[in-house]
Amino acid sequence: MKNFTKVSDISSVPLMVQKALELKANPFAFSALGKNKTLGLIFMNPSLRTRLSSQKAAMNLGMNSMVMNIDKEGWSLELTDGAVMNGTTVEHIKDAAGAMSLYCDIIGIRCFPSLVNSKEDYSELVLSQFIKYSSVPIVSLESATRHPLQSFADMITIEEHKLQTKPKVVLTWAPHVKALPQAVANSFAEWAIASNYELVISHPEGYELSEEFTKGAQIEYNQQRALQGADFVYVKNWSSFRDYGKILTQDDSWLLTNNKLKVTSNAKIMHCLPVRRNVELSDEVLNSPNSLIMQQAENRIYSAQTMLKELLENSSILKL
Ligand code: CP
Repeated sequence: MKNFTKVSDISSVPLMVQKALELKANPFAFSALGKNKTLGLIFMNPSLRTRLSSQKAAMNLGMNSMVMNIDKEGWSLELTDGAVMNGTTVEHIKDAAGAMSLYCDIIGIRCFPSLVNSKEDYSELVLSQFIKYSSVPIVSLESATRHPLQSFADMITIEEHKLQTKPKVVLTWAPHVKALPQAVANSFAEWAIASNYELVISHPEGYELSEEFTKGAQIEYNQQRALQGADFVYVKNWSSFRDYGKILTQDDSWLLTNNKLKVTSNAKIMHCLPVRRNVELSDEVLNSPNSLIMQQAENRIYSAQTMLKELLENSSILKL
């Protein structure tokens, strides 16, 4: 593994989940592994969990970390090769990534989509330019189309709470006041499918995710039918992929309640956070004993720590 940006960068989700659970049981077992190594965390967008859990993961491995909110603190980046930079951009990504590679042994980057142009967003231009021009491994801290460290943490959480080998996992759309990326939903779908879980995705018509991520999942437009017998219900809003970046409805009948959950198999409830309470998910569900939101947040440490450990152990790709 040279970089970690998607589920196909790892050989086996169950194997990685087991490695993460071993690290969770003994988080400081490899506290010398990262000695004199530096993790750079570059944010183009806000973050609470990703920022802090990645720093905590690095600390557990004995690594140093440096954080930069490049959108506020850095030069405006040019992404296009060969650009004549006589406009608003000040620094080419080639030079920025090249310099960062001199200061860091691993670089994490968060780069959200514009939600204006699907072709541009789904080409992952920012992430791929960072990979192209960096000489150290790149870890996605959420890109335009995926959030792999979140999905990995979600798989660790499901493993800890599942009562059967192949649980029924329902990913359900929820209303929101803002247009949000599809990244968490895309990523959760591809990790759940790679984990060989029964995945049902439920959303209003028009909110279909790109088939690139959902092949192998069942799509059910009736939320109540989707919830029947569910072991896990993952709640998330996303904007339309088909009518790219648009909010097609804010229908609050999609808001999950304890009453709706009666048809599930005492389902555990998941959300990646941040969540707009009583818009995207009700207080009564978020505060219920079946809610796993804090367990997911905790497992963000171990998803990041496992991936950093894998990259540190693959010393041929790190600077000496
Ligand atoms: N779930 C998640 O990535 O949270 P942050 O956006 O706060 O990092």
